[in-house]
Amino acid sequence: MILGGTTEARELASRLAGDTRFETVISLAGRTADPRPQPVETRIGGFGGAEGLAAFLIAEEVALVVDATHPFAARISHNAAAAAKAAQVRLLALRRPEWQAEAGDAWTGVGSVAEAVTTLGDAPRRVFLAIGRQEAFHFEAAPQHSYVIRSVDPVTPPLKLPDATAILATGPFAEADEIDLLESHHIDIIVAKNSGGAATYGKIAAARKLGIAVIMVERRKPADVPSVGDCDTALERIDHWLSPA
Ligand SMILES: NC(=O)c1ccc[n+]([C@@H]2O[C@H](COP(=O)([O-])OP(=O)(O)OC[C@H]3O[C@@H](n4cnc5c(N)ncnc54)[C@H](OP(=O)(O)O)[C@@H]3O)[C@@H](O)[C@H]2O)c1
Repeated sequence: MILGGTTEARELASRLAGDTRFETVISLAGRTADPRPQPVETRIGGFGGAEGLAAFLIAEEVALVVDATHPFAARISHNAAAAAKAAQVRLLALRRPEWQAEAGDAWTGVGSVAEAVTTLGDAPRRVFLAIGRQEAFHFEAAPQHSYVIRSVDPVTPPLKLPDATAILATGPFAEADEIDLLESHHIDIIVAKNSGGAATYGKIAAARKLGIAVIMVERRKPADVPSVGDCDTALERIDHWLSPA
């Protein structure tokens, strides 16, 4: 079973879809109103915490869980680690590598979105929020700033902020388009999550070119889980762990 919601999860599912040695199921949280169709059997919705997930793994006789959830979906990954241990099921994490700061980057690392809010400071800034919609509410605590907030689905309930522009868009986002966006909105600081991967890196490269500061929210995933960084390595590990030979 692949815990999904990411491009990597979908790619892994596509590559396992034709493999008759395995029955592959992908699990989605059901957050996105109109999810892209998946190439394998799909179940949607939460399991009811780590206990519910453990019960599901046992009932469905799952042999392997691949946690390919988004780098910032922390709760499901902690649940997966606890459930796999309780149900004695193998767990493999598929996590894209984090972005690393390069020469010319002006990043301030923070441990949470709430910390990003205080790091913006008291003086009004023009902020591009590229952290998804679920944690955008934290910025209601800092109404002195102007915000451009980009998300796939609308932020609900609408944010109580005097100056906020919503942009609904789905990546990938090209660097040249990100430069246009940052310049046209006169952005002077970006709040981003260190998601890794190419699809949303455009804004980071654009910030470097334009000399714009980035408050980078770092990940908080469980550390003690066998982990791979790409689909090829995940497939090798699955083959090694699950092949009868
Ligand atoms: N957080 C992000 O920035 C982000 C960005 C892009 C995509 N996503 C995707 O959106 C989904 C939800 O993210 P989140 O940040 O809300 O997760 P989360 O905070 O880690 O998880 C919250 C709860 O949602 C359920 N859940 C999460 N992922 C699930 C999955 N793949 N299958 C079934 N249930 C799942 C679980 O409910 P129960 O406890 O009831 O099992 C979990 O406890 C994930 O699949 C993730 O890959 C997240």
